[in-house]
Amino acid sequence: MAATISNDKIPNNVNLSSDKRLQRALEQWQPNFISWWKEMGPEGFQEKQTYLRTAISVDVDGWAIFDHVKMPDYRWGIFLAEPDPKRTIPFGDNVGQPAWQEIPGEHRNSLRRLIVTQGDTEPASVEQQRLLAQTAPSLYDMRNLFQVNVEEGRHLWAMVYLLHSYFGSDGREEAEELLQRRSGNVDKPRILTTFNEPISDWLSFFMFTTFTDRDGKYQLKSLAESGFDPLSRTCRFMLTEEAHHMFVGQTSVRRVIKRACEMMKEHNTDDIKSQGGIPLSLIQKYVNFWYSSSVDLFGSEVSTNAAAYFASGLKGRADESKYADHVAKEGSYLMDVLAGDAISQSAVPLRNAMNEILRDDYVKDCVNVLSKWNLETKDAGVDFQFTLPSRRFHRKVGQWSESTFDPQGNQISQAEYDLKKDQWLPTEAERAWVRSLMVQVTEPGKMANWIAPPLKGINDQPVAYDYVKL
Ligand SMILES: [Fe+2]
Ligand SMILES: [Fe+2]
Repeated sequence: MAATISNDKIPNNVNLSSDKRLQRALEQWQPNFISWWKEMGPEGFQEKQTYLRTAISVDVDGWAIFDHVKMPDYRWGIFLAEPDPKRTIPFGDNVGQPAWQEIPGEHRNSLRRLIVTQGDTEPASVEQQRLLAQTAPSLYDMRNLFQVNVEEGRHLWAMVYLLHSYFGSDGREEAEELLQRRSGNVDKPRILTTFNEPISDWLSFFMFTTFTDRDGKYQLKSLAESGFDPLSRTCRFMLTEEAHHMFVGQTSVRRVIKRACEMMKEHNTDDIKSQGGIPLSLIQKYVNFWYSSSVDLFGSEVSTNAAAYFASGLKGRADESKYADHVAKEGSYLMDVLAGDAISQSAVPLRNAMNEILRDDYVKDCVNVLSKWNLETKDAGVDFQFTLPSRRFHRKVGQWSESTFDPQGNQISQAEYDLKKDQWLPTEAERAWVRSLMVQVTEPGKMANWIAPPLKGINDQPVAYDYVKL
């Protein structure tokens, strides 16, 4: 049964043992992965038993089995969603033809680039987060961090499997390089900017899992539509894992907000810094920073690359089935464009707008998240609403990066931006102050002062469970 994951040296549901060459190649990569993990994974906790979720099969009954394991013993492997033998290419010039089981020669380079770019983000985030456990606000949170980390490691496996299986010696080289680059390293940085930003406090981690992992969700959704079937199946299983990462982000930021509201009411002040709480206005600045940085990950608003990926059936829209026209050769997409000092609406050929269409879906999803956070302030009777900044604000990629905008999206001069940016984005001093709040709490069920406890534990365990045995 393809759903069941084997207990081989490399756990898998792709019948790896039937392809000895591939199996050998991956078994040679495996020790390199483990040394990377030991060097760049969570520092100081490799020998601790952690309550982790792992998969024994890819169906509903088996994909979430919980047990205490040491992280280096986690079952990293190759898990693909079950095949649909009748699957066809869902969009683009070849729509309706049988999905590819091998890579058509002319799409090899594009696909390799897509897979390597996605693959590079996975180990990058582990590297960004490797010191966080030392200041975990609770055992519950520490466990969630480790769960996210081991699954990002598994996502690297997912991409490396594709590189080894379908790209020959080029793919093996790329797989090695995925273990060579380092987040934030000047000589060999990770590919995308956001994945080189340091994550040295837990508020940033929760923002990252809310906003940046959510970018991941949309990238995976668009790759899950791919006409290259092994990529589609790989991404579909990754999406089940990814949901937990966003859960961690969204619910944890909400706990920080809840704690802030409690302190505001208790001390009858908005300025809860002296109580050791994180003020809502500072949380908003973190939203502004991490959201704008994540919005960049969707790429240029008008993109010939995106058009080519769509035309060739490699990367589609999220939930392609919700659209009526899967060819998208006719038609256009209305979007704001910047020309010097003027912003006007322009009809962009549909295929060239694919990045912006994916970004629109993402923005809607983020609006939803903020509405949940705003329930927290409303329930507490606190008069504060979180807002997403305009997508023009604080951009490093795409047309909006060519000018400066305030969070409402009004174009302003560089001088005005420089004058006001400390009102909108966390300053170095504020980041240092947030870092100073980060103290490790290891008594089961206890929380650091700046965050409220979760509503419930993991897998029906109590909040005060021994999630990591220290
Ligand atoms: Fe991932
Ligand atoms: Fe993730």
